[in-house]
Amino acid sequence: MYPLRRNRRLRANESIRSLVRETIITPNDFLVPLFVVEGKGVKEEIASMPNYYRFSLDLLEKEVKELWKLGLKSVLLFVKVPDNLKDNKGTEALNPNGLMQRAIKTVKNVCPDMLVMTDVALDPYSSYGHDGIVKNGMIINDDTADVLAEMSVSHAQAGANFVAPSDMMDGRILTIREALEDEGFINTGIMSYSAKYASAFYGPFRDALDSAPVNMVDVPKDKKTYQMDYANRIEAIRETLMDIDEGADIVMVKPGLCYLDIIREVKNAVDVPVAVYQVSGEYAMIKAASENGWLNHDAVMMEQVTAIKRAGADVIASYFAKDVVKLIS
Ligand code: PBG
Repeated sequence: MYPLRRNRRLRANESIRSLVRETIITPNDFLVPLFVVEGKGVKEEIASMPNYYRFSLDLLEKEVKELWKLGLKSVLLFVKVPDNLKDNKGTEALNPNGLMQRAIKTVKNVCPDMLVMTDVALDPYSSYGHDGIVKNGMIINDDTADVLAEMSVSHAQAGANFVAPSDMMDGRILTIREALEDEGFINTGIMSYSAKYASAFYGPFRDALDSAPVNMVDVPKDKKTYQMDYANRIEAIRETLMDIDEGADIVMVKPGLCYLDIIREVKNAVDVPVAVYQVSGEYAMIKAASENGWLNHDAVMMEQVTAIKRAGADVIASYFAKDVVKLIS
């Protein structure tokens, strides 16, 4: 076809490039993860996540207002639970006056239109650092799903718009959906972590919440009996389709960058929005390399979030949300 087709014409300058650009990042793409702690006036930087913080409720208010002003309209809440409140069954997760429940109310109070999603899993509440109940060296599936359903109802009662089960127990989406329906929360949505891989990229997150699996006899050292094997592809489709059948409104692939192939396959297989979580380790890598002067922070950040969206993400949960929005506005 050459010289009839000269592809470089469409790349000649920024005006033509922006005219034909296929993937545009906007503030509407993002879901902002927020870490919440007890206390007053607390804004603690997470050691392995430079420029990312845990907030006490009073400073969470400030942060949420700032996000809203930037055009960021959805948050995903996580709480750091004091050790003395942790047990095997995550009892504290059901406390109607627990930190998560108060955090939901705080956000809704200062910013009623902010969409509030909540992480649903036992790990921040578990004395063993697992997403489920531990028994005889194993993670018990069905009893865990029951607790997750109670937890979801509790978050809905506090005002959460969506619950986001991140635990990977079988059948928990159905159990949660039924519990929400039974309690009348027909408008509370479920964003399911559907294809969540057992990834080493969650390390900094577990530092942030002090939620890593403990090193004890009869406690599994990792999450590989529930999170997916990163060598697998077809399983991601099966997991995702099952979650949709069970009632998930939004499905998720996690992590992002190493799983762009999975994102595209899931996107092509489903008729619900696909969320992608660009996880803590992905954030930490860019921060570390750019602090050393080895990579250009903003350029690499934009390349990665754009790649995630190009791969098929309708929603991007990202610690870079604020940085990106400030850069593009
Ligand atoms: C808890 C949960 C994890 C993440 C989100 N929810 C950690 C884990 O499964 O061990 C990871 C997020 C990140 O690394 O940014 N179930």
